[in-house]
Amino acid sequence: MSTLLTVKNLKVSYPTRTGVIEAVRGVSFTLGKERLGIVGESGSGKSQTGRAIMGLTPGHGIVTADTLNFNGMDLLSASPKQRRLLRGKRIAMVLQDPKYSLDPVMTIGKQICETLRTHEKIGKGEARDRAIAMLEAVQIREPQRVFNLYPHEVSGGMGQRAMIAMMLIADPELLIADEPTSALDVTVQLDVLRIMDRLVSERGMGLIFVSHDLRLVSSFCDRVIVMYAGKVVEELKASELKNAKHPYTQGLLNCMPQIGENRHPLPVLDRKPEWAA
Ligand SMILES: Nc1ncnc2c1ncn2[C@@H]1O[C@H](COP(=O)(O)OP(=O)(O)OP(=O)(O)O)[C@@H](O)[C@H]1O
Ligand SMILES: [Mg+2]
Repeated sequence: MSTLLTVKNLKVSYPTRTGVIEAVRGVSFTLGKERLGIVGESGSGKSQTGRAIMGLTPGHGIVTADTLNFNGMDLLSASPKQRRLLRGKRIAMVLQDPKYSLDPVMTIGKQICETLRTHEKIGKGEARDRAIAMLEAVQIREPQRVFNLYPHEVSGGMGQRAMIAMMLIADPELLIADEPTSALDVTVQLDVLRIMDRLVSERGMGLIFVSHDLRLVSSFCDRVIVMYAGKVVEELKASELKNAKHPYTQGLLNCMPQIGENRHPLPVLDRKPEWAA
C-alpha cells in the first residue's frame, strides 16, 4: 500500500513560565489509504498530534520531528504559504469543537462555498448547488434553509456536520477527524461515518480518526494506535483491539459499559507512572 503520511518522532511542547509542557513526546506512525484510529484518554496528545500534522499548532508551541512527510513533501520545511495551500484542499481537519472553527459572522453556506471556490474555479451558482448537496449528504434536513443560517443559529450536532461538509467538499487526500461524531446521535453518527468510509474506499483518502469510543474505532478503523501521556503505547489491528496487551488499553476496554449490565462500583482506570516513562 502506498504511504500517504510518515510521522517519525513527532514532538510538540509548550514553554511556560513554570516549565515546558510536553504535549506530544515522540509519536511515530505511517498512514496509507486507510482508516487509522487514535485513542487514548483526555490530554494524551491526540489533538496536538493532529494539529501538528495540519500545521495548526498555536504560535508559542514548538514542533519537531525526524520525519513529517506528506506524499513526498517535507512538511517541516514547507513555507507557511505552502502549508496554507495544503490545508483545506489536500489535508483537512475536522476540529473537535466546531464552535471554534466556523466563522461566527458568516453564514454556513457562504463558508462552504468559499472553501470550495478557493480551490476550484467555479461560479457562484455551481458552488451553491454543490454546498447544498454536501449539506444534504451529511444528513442536514432542509439544507436550503441551513445554508443561510449563521453558526450560532444551528445546534451543536448540525454545526459539527456543517464543519464536516466544509472539510469534505474540497475532496482532501488526507482527513484528520478529531472526535468528528461526538456531538451527534448514533444514527447521524453512522451516516457521517459512512460518508468518510466511502471517501476512503472509493477515492483512496487517508483518514486519521481520533475518538474516545473504542468500540466505534475497533469496528470502523483498520488500525489503531493507543496514546498515553504524549506517547504511542500500543499499535494494533482494529479487529484485535479486544486482545490488546498494554495494561492501559486493557483498562480502557474494561471501562466500557455494556447495556443492561449493573456496575456498582464503577471501574476505575489504574495508571502506572512507568507507562509514561
Ligand atoms: N496551547 C497549549 N498550551 C499549553 N499546553 C497545551 C496547549 N494545548 C494543549 N496543551 C496540552 O497538551 C496536552 C495534550 O492535549 P490534547 O489536546 O492533544 O489532548 P487530547 O488527547 O486531544 O485530549 P481530549 O481527548 O480531551 O481531546 C494536554 O496536557 C494539554 O494541556
Ligand atoms: Mg482532543
